[in-house]
Amino acid sequence: MNELLKVEGLSVTFGGLKALNDVYIELHKNEVLGLIGPNGAGKTTLFNAISGLVPPSTGKFSLEGKNSPWPKTHQLAKLGIARTLQGVGLFSGLTALENVMVGAEAHASKGFFADLFGTSGKSEAKLKARAHKALAWAGATAFADKLPSQLTYPDSKRVALARALVLEPKILLLDEPAAGLGHDEIEKLANLILQLKEFYSIIVVEHNVEFVNKISDRVYVLNFGEVISSGPFEKVREDPAVVAAYLGIGN
Ligand SMILES: Nc1ncnc2c1ncn2[C@@H]1O[C@H](COP(=O)(O)OP(=O)(O)OP(=O)(O)O)[C@@H](O)[C@H]1O
Ligand SMILES: [Mg+2]
Repeated sequence: MNELLKVEGLSVTFGGLKALNDVYIELHKNEVLGLIGPNGAGKTTLFNAISGLVPPSTGKFSLEGKNSPWPKTHQLAKLGIARTLQGVGLFSGLTALENVMVGAEAHASKGFFADLFGTSGKSEAKLKARAHKALAWAGATAFADKLPSQLTYPDSKRVALARALVLEPKILLLDEPAAGLGHDEIEKLANLILQLKEFYSIIVVEHNVEFVNKISDRVYVLNFGEVISSGPFEKVREDPAVVAAYLGIGN
């Protein structure tokens, strides 16, 4: 079985609101999984739960077929999970390169990054080289010395992606990577994600269904915190439950 990550029976409650209810998802190796659903469906909450940012009220988590305690934020890099945030979320006082280095450094004192980078000045140079590599992967080399305020929105999103890639994760969680991008940039991003698939397994939350269709091997559809459909995009888009959920927007 090539199943990399599995979440079962996940429920998250905020006060009286059930943001997620008995959610099941599995991500296979070298797969791009699309996660779609109307606003407020619980997509970001699912990422937050997997990232240890919100505690589940119930839920089982397994990696590579092994049950594991529900992950805590500080364990993510070690577990091989990295995410980008809905929006951008860069540190405004740091250059793009420094933002990416900080992304890696936060975990440099623990786990495999400690081995990789050690603590010497030499390791600083290695860290810098790795950050440059991540910027290159994300198509953001030209912005290394720029501050976030000097970058266009699409370019800052590339830097945010580099900050996740620098962790060399197995699993990438991308929250609305195409939001705010123009047609050509979305096309480029889709191609980049398809390239990244060779090395990573990726879950993408996205509203742009054309983009989701292009990049995803399978999709899950969330509505009011529940998975209402899953499978190949072409099949899911015709599922009456999905059609009804999308027609329900604004009612
Ligand atoms: N920290 C929180 N405290 C209270 N309620 C929250 C919190 N985070 C999310 N919610 C609520 O949980 C529900 C799911 O929100 P979530 O942000 O996961 O939706 P989403 O599918 O990502 O939506 P969007 O497409 O608009 O980003 C919403 O009703 C939201 O208001
Ligand atoms: Mg969201």
